[in-house]
Amino acid sequence: MRETPDPQTLLSWYDDHARAMPWRVPPADKQAGVAPDPYRVWLSEIMLQQTTVAAVRGYFIKFTTLWPNVRALAAAEDADVMAAWAGLGYYARARNLLKCARAVVADHGGQFPDTVEALQTLPGIGPYTSAAIASIAFDRQATVVDGNVERVMSRLYAVEVPLPTSKPELTALATGLTPDARQGDYNQAVMDLGATICTPKSPACGICPWMDACQARAQGIAAELPKKLPKKQKPTRLGIVYVLRRRDGAWLLETRPEKGLLGGMLGWPGSDWSDAPAPAPPATADWQDTGVEVRHTFTHFHLKLQVLTAFTALQPDRGHFIAHDRFSPADLPTVMRKVYDVASPALALD
Ligand code: ADE
Repeated sequence: MRETPDPQTLLSWYDDHARAMPWRVPPADKQAGVAPDPYRVWLSEIMLQQTTVAAVRGYFIKFTTLWPNVRALAAAEDADVMAAWAGLGYYARARNLLKCARAVVADHGGQFPDTVEALQTLPGIGPYTSAAIASIAFDRQATVVDGNVERVMSRLYAVEVPLPTSKPELTALATGLTPDARQGDYNQAVMDLGATICTPKSPACGICPWMDACQARAQGIAAELPKKLPKKQKPTRLGIVYVLRRRDGAWLLETRPEKGLLGGMLGWPGSDWSDAPAPAPPATADWQDTGVEVRHTFTHFHLKLQVLTAFTALQPDRGHFIAHDRFSPADLPTVMRKVYDVASPALALD
């Protein structure tokens, strides 16, 4: 007889194999009474949306060094936070991060609320993040469902209905398995299992703590699950960017409007992004085509950018010059940093 999955089996595995993460209280410390810091749990979970643990690690350390608690972050300059987030992507998360920190200070006395419902009233906190914070920081009854958890559940119960159709069923299965103690450790254990053993390709079923309970393994179909409906093809949009430099080294940049893609981030002036972008140089200048196309993929489209460069002595009608020694390409979102990499050799100073 096949076993039914036992959450305690997974928790025992987690006690021995939990991944070390800078925001995580290891299971032994947790059981010895160390309480997780809700600020660090919240910050890490916002960063981890759509991003890997490996990519987040350095950003998390940078943020907690610059802003060690929610009051410090709430008091930060918007531009400093956006610059520190540059490269992590999905920039609405950074704008909401600041709004949320300020709401926690203004409306909650600087303490994160400790229920799923109250957490969801805060900017940028939806079902996933509220469940993660409520369980990990406060051991509330809540089930985290991300891509890892969906994969583990689809295999454990051999769900052959493809994603995203199967989402409600997988959520119900995950909820049904969540124990009523150690909820935070348990949720993190399922995510760790998905990230390290129950991986998308070639899952390591031979060392899985749930191997005896896994229906997909019994049927020999673990690697085929979860099935997925075909994704829509992304369209390609075109654009023109203008990198303008003064002979004293200053670069012309602009802060992008709050609403829209890369909102609030620093970027080079440019055209619209469309099938047929209209030229929109920020100044009259002797524009030179670098001949190199910058490519970048966003969630819903591919982008190809033509990169033009020029020197100027004039004051353009858009953007602001940033002195060379005050400009750090690392403060740019990835697509704009790619443009810098292509444009800067053409704009070297003598
Ligand atoms: N992915 C997102 N949040 C996580 C967490 N707390 N532990 C492991 N993986 C995660």
